Amino acid sequence: MNCDVKTVIAPVNIAVIKYWGKRDEELILPLNDSVSATLDTSVMCAKTSVCANPHFAEDEIWLNGKKESFSNQRLQNCLKEIKQRAYNEKSIDDIFLTWKVHICSENNFPTAAGLASSAAGYACLVTALAKLYKVKSDISSIARLGSGSACRSVYGGFVRWHAGVNPDGSDSIATQIADSSHWPQMRALILVVGDTKKKISSTIGMKRSADTSELLKYRVQYCVPKRTDDISKAIKEKNFGKFAEITMKDSNQFHAVCMDSYPPYVYLTNISHTIIDLVHKYNEISGETRIAYTFDAGPNACLYLLENEVPKVMSLIQHIFPSSSDKFVTGLNFKEEGLNEEFLK
Ligand code: DP6
Repeated sequence: MNCDVKTVIAPVNIAVIKYWGKRDEELILPLNDSVSATLDTSVMCAKTSVCANPHFAEDEIWLNGKKESFSNQRLQNCLKEIKQRAYNEKSIDDIFLTWKVHICSENNFPTAAGLASSAAGYACLVTALAKLYKVKSDISSIARLGSGSACRSVYGGFVRWHAGVNPDGSDSIATQIADSSHWPQMRALILVVGDTKKKISSTIGMKRSADTSELLKYRVQYCVPKRTDDISKAIKEKNFGKFAEITMKDSNQFHAVCMDSYPPYVYLTNISHTIIDLVHKYNEISGETRIAYTFDAGPNACLYLLENEVPKVMSLIQHIFPSSSDKFVTGLNFKEEGLNEEFLK
């Protein structure tokens, strides 16, 4: 190790089977498995540079150009775990572990507006640190310590985060269902409905749901296991109709869980609901399911659709929401290969 700067870019992932609820807050262990698709980094990504130096007086972090506090527990947990792994793997001389680090991170999309910024951010940070400290072992479980969904951004294509059963979280890792070349026609269309910071963070929302929602218990036990298997099969068989139906049902159930929590909280707006109605109408008129919507902890929609459908859907959206057209971002083609060597800039 020397004073080199390591810079990494990391993609956003959008879940089709949602992670919502933890069984361990500290280790960030989920109540259920989840599944996501990793988007192309040309549209939305995080970029992080890290550097260690014997002359740095303290650990410091800048987020989107603004200096932030390093006291964030999750950030510290990630750095601690990386250093522990480096020590165990004897990947660098012990003296380097005493040097302080500087971290610079930026997103090219709205932070904390339900656009998976923490997923890309922590995947990026942990990968950059793993490069700096030459850590070789699985890093999805370290990214998970930053933000649960971040463990899925470590891979490209379609990814499953296994909830695992071990109390220490050693089996709560992400694996690839299919790589980025598997379904080249698949596209995602991100509709930015609002880019203000969400009122209830995912962390707080899911804690409230885990504490109070009966529907969440039902979902975890009876719905998610079958959906996860079925959507994995649909992805492998490239069955868009099945993939889309499960994706939409799971998004709807997640938002129903938010309403079933006490006190309830709502992420969707009237525009989100207009998009939902539009998608169902479009599918009905088409005589088959050609678009799927999914919403994370915010009002923004992610539409999954196949390549040949994009021009028609884009012009329909421009027509219905003309004033907001500059806010719509297209794109995803699964070109990236996750955070591996050739992916590094
Ligand atoms: C709705 O990963 O942001 O996007 O683990 O508390 O940081 P923490 O939560 P986070 O939650 C993401 C929730 C979601 C669904 C998903 O990505 O699976």
